[in-house]
Amino acid sequence: MKYRNNNLYVENINIRSLSNKISTPFYCYSFDRLKNNINEFKKNFSTINPLICFSVKSNNNLNILKIIKNFGLGADVVSKGELLRALKAGIKPQKIVFSGVGKTPDEISFAIQKKILLINAESENELKIIQKIAYKKKKKVNVGLRLNPNIDAKTLKKISTGRNEDKFGISDKNFIKLLKKFHNSKNINIKCLSVHIGSQILDYRPYSKMVSVIDSIIKKTKYKFDYIDLGGGMGIDYHLNSKKLDYKKYSLVIKNFLKKHKVKIIFEPGRSIIGNTGSLISKVIYVKSSLKKNFVILDSAMNDFMRPALYGSYHRIIPAIKNNKVIKKIHDFVGPICETTDSFLSLKKYQKVNENDVLAICDTGAYGIVLASNYNLRTKPAEIMINKSNFKVISKKENINKIA
Ligand SMILES: Cc1ncc(COP(=O)(O)O)c(C=O)c1O
Repeated sequence: MKYRNNNLYVENINIRSLSNKISTPFYCYSFDRLKNNINEFKKNFSTINPLICFSVKSNNNLNILKIIKNFGLGADVVSKGELLRALKAGIKPQKIVFSGVGKTPDEISFAIQKKILLINAESENELKIIQKIAYKKKKKVNVGLRLNPNIDAKTLKKISTGRNEDKFGISDKNFIKLLKKFHNSKNINIKCLSVHIGSQILDYRPYSKMVSVIDSIIKKTKYKFDYIDLGGGMGIDYHLNSKKLDYKKYSLVIKNFLKKHKVKIIFEPGRSIIGNTGSLISKVIYVKSSLKKNFVILDSAMNDFMRPALYGSYHRIIPAIKNNKVIKKIHDFVGPICETTDSFLSLKKYQKVNENDVLAICDTGAYGIVLASNYNLRTKPAEIMINKSNFKVISKKENINKIA
């Protein structure tokens, strides 16, 4: 996103003009940004040659998944729906891993039938169910075991997944126990150790600790894994110019690990691939002045974009046209939904805002549209992909008559 003569552009498309053609709110993504993010990610880990499985939960738009597939990425899925969507996008089963604490027998059965690369199991009972289904199907199924390394990823509490008190994965002691118990199974082949310690991680050190926990488990068990799935979680720069994840250091940690262990590394990035490619374009319905504040009431709401209400997360909001008239008063950017948490951002000052102005809520490509709902019986917004001077509707706005 760039300003040219005070007008906001995504690639060569003027956002104010686009909002005259597409009814707001809508998500818009940049193809160029997506391409660059994928290439950067590959470059950051080029010496490791990992299998990169895009985390479909972060954005499951079919068109986006097709682009991602064309760049050679696989998929990390957490439900049958996501698995179906990834297959529909043309992603090969041999590049798909299935994560999640609560896979149902139906989901496991479907994953086995589709011969995906790995089912990453998260409990003894899940392993038993996989074994039972595989036995019935006369199959030997490749699984990963998800370790809970008890590491605080120092990220938002609500998106932390690698501590003992989190519901994810298996503690080191149980992990070793389960390896012993299942390694001779006729229907299960434990091929992978998987982890995912959380999201929006900007410090490489929790990753470094995570890798040393994996190292010590391998040393203790002497078990020969084919894959180590390190999950995703790489953070992005929501606050411009904030701390960035040191990919060089993280990559070096993995390189040193690979000197000792001959395994294929898998990553499951979501946010770092798609997060900063998207923004939610919204129009101002009303500006309501109170004694202390200006409420900027947008036509987008928490049903369109949930992260600020759900996690208290920060997203910049920038105008489609800069007018450079600063008003020194608190501005609360809110949606029309009848909830106090339907609030995106509060700033001490902002440029003068008028009704019908267009604003962009930034970095909403990940965990944006996927969390949208029909709360207050509102329609889910359209999604637009911009590529240079062209734009394409990659998902239509819902029809109010179909949902009402
Ligand atoms: C198992 C697993 N893998 C990958 C991801 C993707 O994380 P991120 O979008 O932070 O890269 C998640 C997200 O929560 C996850 O739970």
